[in-house]
Amino acid sequence: MTITIPANLAANTAASATALVEKAANAPKAELHIHIEGSLEPELIFALAQRNNVKLAYDSIDALRAAYAFTDLQSFLDIYYAGASVLLTEQDFYDMTMAYCERALADNVVHTEIFFDPQTHTERGVPIETVVAGIDRALADAEKRGLSSKLILCFLRHLSESDALATFDAAQPLFARYARLIGVGLDSSERGHPPSKFERVFEKARALGLKLVAHAGEEGPPSYIYEALDLLKVDRVDHGVRSIEDPALVTRLADTRVALTVCPLSNTKLCVFDDMTQHTLKALLDKGVAVTVNSDDPAYFGGYVNENYRAIIEALKLDDGEVYTILRNGFEASFVTPEERAALIAKLDANWNRATA
Ligand code: HPA
Ligand code: ZN
Repeated sequence: MTITIPANLAANTAASATALVEKAANAPKAELHIHIEGSLEPELIFALAQRNNVKLAYDSIDALRAAYAFTDLQSFLDIYYAGASVLLTEQDFYDMTMAYCERALADNVVHTEIFFDPQTHTERGVPIETVVAGIDRALADAEKRGLSSKLILCFLRHLSESDALATFDAAQPLFARYARLIGVGLDSSERGHPPSKFERVFEKARALGLKLVAHAGEEGPPSYIYEALDLLKVDRVDHGVRSIEDPALVTRLADTRVALTVCPLSNTKLCVFDDMTQHTLKALLDKGVAVTVNSDDPAYFGGYVNENYRAIIEALKLDDGEVYTILRNGFEASFVTPEERAALIAKLDANWNRATA
């Protein structure tokens, strides 16, 4: 039997999705998964290359953008690290971070927790102090404009454990100096680099009282998510979308409320899912997992956080309550104090209840 949807009902559904996209765009929100080097737009890459006399493998902005046709995580990372090679001075890190903050403020992000990859810079001779000083100065300026923030140092998992340990040692004074620098994470090429490789450095970070996160279950199997939980003892899992393959894991995530920082446009651009209608975000949400929505590397994946909300609202036909839950999860899962969390949720509630969709 075929069911025909009356034209006026179909039009109504489309209209309500459009209204919900707008309502979500206007809502105050948190972003918990953004690599600051992944916010470098091609225009800024070229401007910094010129300022610093760095030679790029692409001779125009358009040629660089044309290379953004990724087939998997590694094909993206190769270009992402090439883009980051233009960053040399404290002012470069400031300019990159401020450009992201402008985009985040335009999307009504009121709290952001930002990843950075120090090893990408220290291996080119840029001191870790330069990296953190530039990023933190921009975040302090953005805070005055209503965007609060935290900073999370990520270890590159394709490099060795001893490299991560040395990076952690070099960063120790910075954890004491910068109040915003509150945690460590794990990113880069997932397959073949399980969380267990970094158990000892995460143990050291935990001993310092730092927050812990790790990318797991983006391309890697559910066993990597178990390792992130059981060996690294993470507070959140970045991506984690492959958890859906293991029902016991989904139940555990739902019961413990360990949040997933999901990045929908990233997942389709890197071919984790064939298209957005295949995304597992709604299935995870339906099972009670604390799913959040984030932009990952917005300059490379076709949109900042509001475009990610648009994509899932439209493709997964989310309703008002589901979008509210995701927005609220962002604040629930953020590394702020209980008082700050209550204030952020009150702000969301006031906005959401006032708005119509
Ligand atoms: N996955 C892993 N590492 C990364 C990513 C990602 O999506 N973006 C930047 N580094
Ligand atoms: Zn990421």
